[in-house]
Amino acid sequence: MSCHCRNGLLLRRSGVYIAGVVTIPNPAFSTRVCRYGAEALREAALLIRAGEPVAVPTETVYGLAADATDSQAVAGIYSAKGRPSFNPLIVHVSDMEMARRLADFSPQAEQLAARFWPGALTMVLPVRADSGLSPLVMAGLPTVALRLPAHPAMRALIRESGRPLAAPSANRSGAISPSRAEHVLASLNGKIRMILDEGPTSEGLESTIAAPEADRIRLLRPGPVTTAMLEEASGLPVITGPDSKTGNAKIEAPGQLESHYAPSKPVRLNALRAEKDEYLIGFGLMPCHLNLSVDADLREAAANLFAALHVADASIQGRIAVAPIPDEGIGTAINDRLRRAAA
Ligand code: TXA
Ligand code: MG
Repeated sequence: MSCHCRNGLLLRRSGVYIAGVVTIPNPAFSTRVCRYGAEALREAALLIRAGEPVAVPTETVYGLAADATDSQAVAGIYSAKGRPSFNPLIVHVSDMEMARRLADFSPQAEQLAARFWPGALTMVLPVRADSGLSPLVMAGLPTVALRLPAHPAMRALIRESGRPLAAPSANRSGAISPSRAEHVLASLNGKIRMILDEGPTSEGLESTIAAPEADRIRLLRPGPVTTAMLEEASGLPVITGPDSKTGNAKIEAPGQLESHYAPSKPVRLNALRAEKDEYLIGFGLMPCHLNLSVDADLREAAANLFAALHVADASIQGRIAVAPIPDEGIGTAINDRLRRAAA
């Protein structure tokens, strides 16, 4: 299926002008869902070069991508998501050459990149003075979060547009992350012009965020690349907590705000059975409305998690309950997202 986006290119730049004081609201426009392919890719790249955000799949979740070197384009992401302006964005690159132009790579960072890129690891690294990135991307931090994704659609879009792409998850700020194009549409319809659809994402959870230091790796967000995998690859201990140099304990990855990934309904965790008016999301063989993995496979459960939360949120039941998930491997990341969904 092709998608004709030509008339979509006769557009005004999206509505926020950050340099001045004037804010022009976005005109409402329709959001098109385009099956990923050569034509849709070309049109998406034209939108990116025109300074417009486009939703695009990665192997973790769908991202809302815009030119990371263009402040107006980046502002377009913040306004479409309704995102607090202090929250910095992940910059996606298509190869190591592009990555090294943006940030300083220590030997530890090189080692992790060699092992986990392309893939579901984001590294927080010192940003280069000559990176050319919009300061809005870092939101005032001296570091930039970089990821080289594995998904062909995101990598092709970076190559085709010739720009590093800033991309948070493609959902309204604070809402459940999208693992399918229809989740993006439900959350951002009328706020963005185009969604590249390439089916459900394979990992289903946002990338692991880590800051490599000389003698340790700080884990800022658990994800598909687990603590054990980071330790094994680096030979270094993985710690969670404040920056060892500054002792700074303030939230370093603001996406770690307590309430996040929040459905509109109350969520009860570690539930073994559904109480009255609850939609029960199960794990392993058990009676439930929807099962994350009948075989109790944590990777399968991770891939299904956000879709299950979306379905539960749209159900007739007034509350959501979720079965206990083992806190090991990627189960740590699943429980991290569930705790925030319940907060
Ligand atoms: O899988 C993913 O990571 C997806 C796909 C689209 O790549 N993206 C994603 O982005 O989850 P987002 O914006 O929802 O989460 C990015 C997280 C936030 O918690 C943000 O605070 C943190 O990365 N972050 C970004 N830059 C940072 C930096 N310089 N230092 C620390 N944390 C940073
Ligand atoms: Mg997000």
